Amino acid sequence: MSQASNPIGVIGTGTMGAGIAQTAAAAGWKVKLFDTDSERVNQAIQSVGKRFDRLVEKERITEEQAELSKSSLVAVASLDELHDCDLIVEAIVEAFDIKSALLKQLGSIAPSAVLATNTSSLSVSELGSASDVADRVVGLHFFNPAPIMPLVEVVKGEHTSEQSVQRAALLAEAWGKKVVQASDTPGFIVNRVARPYYLESWRIVEDGYATVNEVDEALQLLGEFRMGPFMLTDLIGQDINVATTQSVWERLDKPSRLAPSHLQTSLVEKNHLGKKTGRGAYAHDDNGNATPAIIQDSCELELSDVLSNAINSFCLEATCTSGTPLAKYIFSRVLVSIINEALWAKSEGVASEQDIDTAMKLGTNYPNGPFEWTERIGMEKVLELLVALNQTVDDGRFEAPPSVSLATP
Ligand SMILES: NC(=O)c1ccc[n+]([C@@H]2O[C@H](COP(=O)([O-])OP(=O)(O)OC[C@H]3O[C@@H](n4cnc5c(N)ncnc54)[C@H](O)[C@@H]3O)[C@@H](O)[C@H]2O)c1
Repeated sequence: MSQASNPIGVIGTGTMGAGIAQTAAAAGWKVKLFDTDSERVNQAIQSVGKRFDRLVEKERITEEQAELSKSSLVAVASLDELHDCDLIVEAIVEAFDIKSALLKQLGSIAPSAVLATNTSSLSVSELGSASDVADRVVGLHFFNPAPIMPLVEVVKGEHTSEQSVQRAALLAEAWGKKVVQASDTPGFIVNRVARPYYLESWRIVEDGYATVNEVDEALQLLGEFRMGPFMLTDLIGQDINVATTQSVWERLDKPSRLAPSHLQTSLVEKNHLGKKTGRGAYAHDDNGNATPAIIQDSCELELSDVLSNAINSFCLEATCTSGTPLAKYIFSRVLVSIINEALWAKSEGVASEQDIDTAMKLGTNYPNGPFEWTERIGMEKVLELLVALNQTVDDGRFEAPPSVSLATP
């Protein structure tokens, strides 16, 4: 694949498409952009152009580089003009029938192109089968904002050829991205393994043990997470976060671990979606201040000796910072749930330990990967805590995958 001669195509030039086009153009690729709404293409080219100008102002790139990158972005009026592309990325609306029809059309227009989908929640295998060009359909899952987020999950569908996967991965790497390989499973790596960060936090508040700000503070202080789960979901949008949970949970056959939180769902029903509506887990004022907005009956935390010991020995190894018993409880319950989800994902062949760690650090800014944490804490202590927590619930959601339990004496 020579950088100079073969363009790439981007279809759907909204948030993600514009970001992907910027990423490829910045790396020297000619990018052909198509959208059913031609105005969106012009807007994307203009806004990406402005972003290049800002990079010049910040002295991150030269004026010549900016001009070159801008001139690499070409609007096309029909899909036929993508016939000479090496790779075509679709970032159109998240709808199976529309995406598969488009991929099918591209299969004949661009007979040698790798056809990449940026889907977050659809099956790459099913998209491939429905498009009749399954060997060339690959998942290339960028994160928002695409020019800044360093991670791309490359997803091989059931019938995707190894060559298509390699070509897509090599291109993403050539654009400066860190690539991880994920199997075609719900949520791939990041959107699955991150679920317990939100869900177990919501459940702690549902239990009445802590307020949203207490949970946020404990995870930032003891876990060194950049942002607490409640402030983060208020930024993402509670509706978007619930929709991802719902989709991953349903597609994985509804494991209790990943069941949506009643409290979070009720916020969405009340249109308390977070920052964008002024109220979510917090009430946000115009000056950027946030005050906890969820009132729950509180319930005193009472721990059995077994659970208390398990938490203390988990925290002793996991964190350098001391905290209150409540903070330790919050941190250890949430972190061990993330680790457990990573163990389940690995046991189901979603990705390697290394790729799961890389994905969680680069896709969600976690300070450590779940397997790095496990290495530091020790698997025995992780399992001890899971067993002790499992005794406090009636849905068995802290159960470790059988392969892990069996491997441990
Ligand atoms: N927004 C995110 O944070 C994010 C992150 C990762 C992946 N994704 C995925 O990326 C894709 C795009 O998401 P987005 O947020 O950029 O959406 P968006 O709504 O911002 O943009 C979608 C664009 O696709 C165009 N479009 C719709 N149907 C089309 C068709 N048949 N042919 C050509 N263009 C068409 C629309 O006009 C629009 O400009 C989705 O599959 C989404 O799941 C989104």
